[in-house]
Amino acid sequence: EAPKPLASRHALVTSGPTYEPIDPVRYIANRSSGKQGHAVAASLAALGARVTLVSGPVRLPDPPGVDVVAVETAAEMLAACRAALPADIFVAAAAVADWRVEAAGQKLKKDGGGPPTLALSENPDILASLSAPSPDRPALVIGFAAETNDIVAYARAKRLRKGCDWIVANDVSPATGTFGGDRNSVYVIRADGTEEAWENLAKTEVARRLADAISNHFETGKK
Ligand code: C5P
Repeated sequence: EAPKPLASRHALVTSGPTYEPIDPVRYIANRSSGKQGHAVAASLAALGARVTLVSGPVRLPDPPGVDVVAVETAAEMLAACRAALPADIFVAAAAVADWRVEAAGQKLKKDGGGPPTLALSENPDILASLSAPSPDRPALVIGFAAETNDIVAYARAKRLRKGCDWIVANDVSPATGTFGGDRNSVYVIRADGTEEAWENLAKTEVARRLADAISNHFETGKK
């Protein structure tokens, strides 16, 4: 049997939402299903990569052949990603909460004279943090960008801001049904200036194409 193209590579993938606690019983979350990130992890594993999938809470089975690390908060996701390094490939598909709450140690009570004010602080940017130049930086760092308008222009700017090598931008305007749905239309924007549109595909097919593109990237780099 021919060796698989990503054998000997370690891929780190984030997926799903994060949950940010308000108190011991409540949290702030978002609508990410984890379908795209989990599919990417599965496709990379199918090409022979050792895959670590750091996932927020999702209602999905663990992809076959993937090491899954379950986390809740953005801070836990960052710590789990750092602990999984070194990696050759980092794909940040998680919908990380931008803010966390200064959580109360006890359940907030409604008899305390009006609604509480939630003090927010900014979460670490996991993608920007792992993209930053360092001896540990994965050779290929790929971010996602969910936009509702001017997708390509915003995504180009986001790639530069985050410092990642490629960005996969998708249209999440409500009419597309991307959030929670099974299909996706994406634009792949690379540091070398190449841009491709992959339109109206199953999320599993987007994942297969992305894994193939990653594998081609490493194959070309070897020559
Ligand atoms: O800035 P924005 O959240 O739109 O960027 C989206 C990209 O950044 C995704 O790849 C997401 O996984 C990543 N991200 C992250 N940590 C954050 C926020 C976003 O890794 N705190």
